[in-house]
Amino acid sequence: MKKIGLLTSGGDCPGLNACIRAVVRTANYYNIEVVAFKRGFKGLIENDYTILDYKSVAGILQKGGTILLTAREPRFKDFNFRKIAYENIQKHNIEALFVIGGNGSFQGAYLLQKDFGLNIIGIPKTIDNDIYGTDYAIGFDTAVNNAMEAIDKIKDTTMSHERIFIVEVMGRDSGFIALEVGVAVGAELTLIPEYPLPLHVIEETILKAKEKGKSFAIIVLAEGVASAKELSELLNERLKDKDVGEIRYQVLGYIQRGGSPSAYDRVMASKFGVFAVEKFVQGEKNFMVAYENGKLLTKPLEISFNKVRIPNLEEYHINNILSM
Ligand code: F6P
Repeated sequence: MKKIGLLTSGGDCPGLNACIRAVVRTANYYNIEVVAFKRGFKGLIENDYTILDYKSVAGILQKGGTILLTAREPRFKDFNFRKIAYENIQKHNIEALFVIGGNGSFQGAYLLQKDFGLNIIGIPKTIDNDIYGTDYAIGFDTAVNNAMEAIDKIKDTTMSHERIFIVEVMGRDSGFIALEVGVAVGAELTLIPEYPLPLHVIEETILKAKEKGKSFAIIVLAEGVASAKELSELLNERLKDKDVGEIRYQVLGYIQRGGSPSAYDRVMASKFGVFAVEKFVQGEKNFMVAYENGKLLTKPLEISFNKVRIPNLEEYHINNILSM
């Protein structure tokens, strides 16, 4: 019987379990056994694994997190540990390792391909949606919805108290979550690292909103720009004589990454998983699953970490028009 390896690596996100289920069930459908390693590359190094079959992935589709656990494994940077990992993989006679991960995980897995010729198949996931080469990564839609729901609640109290609120969202160095959420909540201003705004423009926007009679404002801030605490302190100081009231802040944090995946993420994770295994069955090697212009395709894994994905600023434009 053919065997494949499977792991989830890097930050968790909603939809991982849906993807695990899809990989396992498609593999079983084609009579392939799945050796699933725990805690990402850590499980490879420590040969910590479990065999997943059709039944063991029942009831997980709608669950957040990952049943395989996940980790960021610094030892994987060391060739000697990668060699141990490869030897463990060899012990199982695994023909390909399926990595559900982000660009950091793909970069690590690529080294197994480069150093030992192991067949690596990447399935993109990250709430940040910043993997180059694919329009979509599993987890993004749910994270955006989680943030939107939280900000809707903050907006109720912001409106009642006629306040200005800065809400910090995740995204690491990228602004995809902030941009999408900014439009979804009707933010007065959205701040992203790819389009830095000078402080005076932020101040002018707040003052202009006030002048136009707006009694409250939501500013969505991507964590890659600044911390909400620092920005609110700075703005409170600089606008203290301008009668805009105290500017409050909220960091949304990990609630964005948890919870049951949205329908979109369940479907995308399922499609990605089935597609990845079917391409493997057809003999394709060393690729990542990519979603482009509404279609699934395969791309070389190394594309994902050699370039930076930049958001489409059209959403910025939309938000500018709507918030003014
Ligand atoms: O990459 C996903 C992400 O949630 C980022 O948005 C965030 O900056 C980071 O992970 C946080 O990582 P950790 O789990 O190490 O705190």
